[in-house]
Order: sequence, then C-alpha cells, then structure tokens
Amino acid sequence: MPKRRLFVTTALPYANANFHIGHMMEYIQADIWVRFQRLQGNEVHFVCADDAHGAPIMIAAEKAGKTPQQFVNTIAAGRAEYLEGFHIAFDNWHSTDAPENHELAQQIYKDLRDQGLTTNRSIEQFYDPVKGMFLPDRYIKGECPKCGAKDQYGDSCEVCGSVYSPLELKNPYSVLSGATPELRSSEHYFFKLSDPKVVMFLKEWTQSGKLQAEVAKKTSEWFAAGMNDWDISRDAPYFGIEIPDAPGKYFYVWLDAPVGYLASLKNHFDKGQAAHHPHEASRTQQTFEEFIADPSVEQIHFIGKDIVYFHTLFWPAMLEFSRRKTPSQVNVHGFLTVSGEKLSKSRGITLDPLKYLNLGMNPEWLRYYIAAKLNAKVEDLDFNPDDFLARVNSDLIGKYINIASRAAGFIHKKFEGRLDTSAQEKIDQGLGALSAQEVSATIAELFNKREYARAVRLICDFADQINQMFDAHKPWELARKEDLTSQTTLHEVCSAALRGFQYMSLWLKPILPKVAEQAEHFLNIPPLTWSLPLAPLTHIQTYQHLLQRVDAAMLDALFQAPQQEKIAPGGEDLAPEIKLEDFSKIDLRIAKILQCEAVEGSDKLLRLTLDIGEGKTRNVFSGIKAAYKPEELIGKSTVMIANLAPRKMKFGVSEGMVLAASHANEKAQPGLFLLEPHPGAVPGLRVR
Ligand code: 2FM
Ligand code: ZN
Repeated sequence: MPKRRLFVTTALPYANANFHIGHMMEYIQADIWVRFQRLQGNEVHFVCADDAHGAPIMIAAEKAGKTPQQFVNTIAAGRAEYLEGFHIAFDNWHSTDAPENHELAQQIYKDLRDQGLTTNRSIEQFYDPVKGMFLPDRYIKGECPKCGAKDQYGDSCEVCGSVYSPLELKNPYSVLSGATPELRSSEHYFFKLSDPKVVMFLKEWTQSGKLQAEVAKKTSEWFAAGMNDWDISRDAPYFGIEIPDAPGKYFYVWLDAPVGYLASLKNHFDKGQAAHHPHEASRTQQTFEEFIADPSVEQIHFIGKDIVYFHTLFWPAMLEFSRRKTPSQVNVHGFLTVSGEKLSKSRGITLDPLKYLNLGMNPEWLRYYIAAKLNAKVEDLDFNPDDFLARVNSDLIGKYINIASRAAGFIHKKFEGRLDTSAQEKIDQGLGALSAQEVSATIAELFNKREYARAVRLICDFADQINQMFDAHKPWELARKEDLTSQTTLHEVCSAALRGFQYMSLWLKPILPKVAEQAEHFLNIPPLTWSLPLAPLTHIQTYQHLLQRVDAAMLDALFQAPQQEKIAPGGEDLAPEIKLEDFSKIDLRIAKILQCEAVEGSDKLLRLTLDIGEGKTRNVFSGIKAAYKPEELIGKSTVMIANLAPRKMKFGVSEGMVLAASHANEKAQPGLFLLEPHPGAVPGLRVR
C-alpha cells in the first residue's frame, strides 16, 4: 500500500481561556488517529494554533489591562502543560496572529476577489457611541421583543427562546458601556456564498463522502433553507487582519481562523528546514507549497459539532475558489458531558484537566476511557466516574496489564526470563477463528474509521481469551510440579500469554503511548509498529508495574467543588456578625459641614465644624486631609457618629467622627471617600 500523506488538524482554540476538558477530548481523539497512522508508516503533519482574533479577545484584553497580543501570549504560554500532560503530540502550535496567517488570509481574499466572489455594501448596525465601536450581537442587551424579558442578548431570548435581530430589541443597551446604541451604517465586505457556482460546488462537495452521514444531511438542510452571502468584514477597532485595499476594515475572525491551519503547517515546514534538520542530507527538503500542492496529500480536520457550518461551507468554498486543496475529511465529534450533564462553569459542572493531572491521575487512564467510548458518529460522550473506575481498573488493568504481571513472574522464576518461540506462533495463528494478523487488520480498520470503542472492545475480547487460556492451564499448579511436561506447558502458556500481551501493546499503542513504551522495554523489543508478523520475543526484562489502578478517592477529589474562595470586599474580611441591637447603639446623624480648616502641625487632620441640628455646633477632627481641600467640604453634608465618647486629642477635643470609605491597605491603594447623603437630608436626621 502506498504511504498516505496526511495533514491533520484540530480546531484552533480561542486564546482567551485555558483548555477545558472538551478541548482535551478532541485532541485525544485526533492524537490517537495520528499515532495510529504513524504506526502504519504513513506521513503525518499534525498541527494546531491559537485562534487569536476577534472582538471578545480584544475586549477581554482591554479589561485585563493588556494589549491583545500580550493577552493572547499569556494564554499561549499555558498550553504546553496540558498538551504534554496528556501526551498530545502536535508537530506544531502556532497563532492566527502570526505573519504567515496575515499573508495567507490576505492572499486567499485577493484570490476570491479576483474570481468576482467578493462584494461590498453598506449595512446598518448598532454602534456604541461611548466605546466608539460597532457592537457584536452578544454585546447588546435589551428587552425581548417577543416576551418582554429584561436583559436579553442581542440575538436570542433565554426566557422564551425566540431568535431575532438586535435591531428588534426594546430599550437596547451596550453591555460594554451601558450606553444606548445608535444605528449607524458602514461598508461591509461579503463572500458571495449565494453565487450559483459556489452553491453548486458546495452541494456536490458536501455529498461526496467526505462528511459523516449525519453531517452531510445537516448541510443539505442548510441548502434547502438557502445560502446567504457571508459578512467577512468588521470595522476598526478590531483585533484582526486588515483587508487589502479597505482601510479600517478587518477580516471577521472566522475568515482567518481556518486559514490558521495552513499558516501553522507552513510555519512547521519552514521551521523543519531551518531549525530541525539543518544537516540531514537525506531529508527531502520539501516546502509547504510543494506539500500542499501534492494531490495525494489528504487534509483532515477534527472539529466539534458546534462549528460544522464554518468547516463544511465557508472553509471548503474559500479553498476551492481560491484554487486550493479542499478538505478530504471533516471529522465531527459531539460534546463531552459529565454524569449526563452539559459542561457548565457557572453550575460547577466541569472536569478540570489540570486538576486531573495535579491530583496525580494518569493521563493514559483518560485517553483509554475516551477511546473506549468514542465512535465515528456525532454523539456526545459521557464521563461517568463509576464507569471510568470500572473500565480502567477492570478492563485495562484487570485484563491487559495483568497478563504481563502474571506471566512475567513464572518466566523469571522458572526460565531465567527466556521465552518459548513455538508457543508464540500458536498465538499468531489465532486463539479463535481469526489469526492475530487478521485481528490486527480489523483493529486497524476500526482505528482508521475512528471507531475506537469497537477497537477497544476487540482488544478486551482478545485479552479475555488470553486470560482464559492462561487460567485453563492453572499455571500456579504447574509451577509447583517438577516434571518436564508441566514445566514445558508452563513455559508455553506464559510465552503465549506474553505474545498476546505484545499484540495488545501494539493495538493499544495509539491510545497508550507511554504504557506501550514501557511494555516494549519489558518485552525487550524495538518500538512496535503495525508491520506484521511481529518479531518473536526471546527474553523479557524484570516486570515493573506498568500502570496504577484508579483510586476512587481521586475521583471524589476531582469532582469536589473547589473551596468557595472567600472574597474579601475592598481587600478586607468582613467584621464578625452583629445583631441589630448592636447596630442601633451607634447613633448616626446627618451633619452639615459649616466650617473646615487645616490643623496647624498635622499633615493628616482637618478640623470640621458640624451642625447636627442640636442648636450648637460640634468640633470634629478627621484624618482626611490627603483627600480633600478644606474649601471643597464647606457647605457639604455628611454622616457622623453622634454618640461617640468625646476624645481628647493633641489639637483639642473631638466630639464625634465623620464616616468615610477607604481600602484596607491605604498605602497600597490610596483613596478616601467621605459619605454624602442624597439631597434633601437635613442636619440631625438619624441614619438607620
Ligand atoms: O470555536 C472555536 O473555538 C474556534 N476558535 C474554532 C476555530 S477552528 C478554525 F477554524 F480555526
Ligand atoms: Zn423572550
């Protein structure tokens, strides 16, 4: 079989947050596929990148007091910990803000324009006059035009579920500034998706076997509803890529995001030549351009079910009409649920991948569990803790790992680590109807079709057969007998079991790369690849435990809600609880500041002359000189504690105290704010 040349990607994650478990599931699915293809001897280039652009990232960066680039870099710096932690072997990780992507996106746009497939026209949109920018739908809220519910998003109502245009909202306001948005018109650029030749191409492309059946069906529903042109521009300010010959206009993030697949691949090729293989004469010095122009190269995207529209309509059309290679497969997966519930940060339904690793949980448990439940359909995958424990402990460890530990003991004790060869041939010929080679071929086909659960089931069945064979001979009894037949049988049984273990290690290698590596060491063989028959085993190394069992306590800890972090308002913990009686002991009164002056000899104090309607005035010293000039306060009202025992101070007697707000640590965060009642509060009124 000729070697396949594969370009494989996962969806580019937005660079505004760390990975969640859904990302890890997708990467694990793709990584298993990629590792399998490599074991087959195929050439794979597996890349990803941060999706850096768009309004949400720009706004989040501004809130964090960073430039979008700084903001995105911080997120990018955190990626490796997850990827290495779960053994995800991308060849390259790049960014959609990188120069390669600017160039490629602009070139693709120009190519489409030259085909007459772009157009521009003026559209009306909400504009935030305070922020000075057009508002994406999700940054506009208002009252639902259908049911009147308040604070609903610009595109749909969470109360009655209706969908509408932001222009229909009643009393709309900007989420960013609170301002009432204004309708303004501006020139937008469009990709003419409704052009008959584009529609014709897409209808055919989506039905040509590149998509899962249910995905192809979905796309035909979209065609039936009719294709609209796609708005690909956004107005400045926007964090994105400038549209050529259109000052102040940027590509909508979804235009340049998938181009990032190509940009990352290009960067990978450029690096490979410059950095990784400077002296390797034998390496074919292929360029990105040569690789992507090769018609035999397959371009394969792994994505989630929420972004199918972009990957099965916009993206193939962009590629086709800019005269580029279109995707060979778009592999769509469902979402991950936890104990049957949708992930939700606000409801605390999460499975934090870093917490998983930090608890010392083995990444290969999760890889195995996900594989054991994944098929090639767009179905959600449920993470259920009890199921996880059972599958890892009973199947993976109980069936597969245990074969090695049980057989190795006898082989070392009785046979100095040496193995019987003819017994291994029996396993090659097969335990049931199929030879090991035939089982291998079936498993290979299942991996290739992304039917991982079925592959894992076959491997477990095979393990059952090996264990039954092993147990049927009661090796623990044979080991106690000294006669030659018993010894020979024991040697055969254990050698056969280890041969079975060798096969399973190969089959599981895409899922469990580290365990497979340790197994290769234990079996004393070079790295396993999918070329059969496998080399015979001659002797083994001492067995060292290959994989720990899951401890239920770890799962409890994993799903234990984090201790509600106590938030200290204003940087200061709340004072102990009091009763209403306690509060009523404090007599607070509205006080008018009749006079105010600096106190000679003090750089902190102001002297206030206060009227609280007693027919006399009070003299109060207050440490607010840093915040107020005396003349600013004269004539203002404030609140004072009127029944505080008079205090004798260096500069005179203070007959009360005025109230002001400040931070816990005034040095770190200066600022003092005298309380002022709403207009109408006359001196002497009690505050309660
Ligand atoms: O949905 C998302 O998370 C997008 N950032 C995916 C982009 S995939 C590709 F087009 F870049
Ligand atoms: Zn509504």
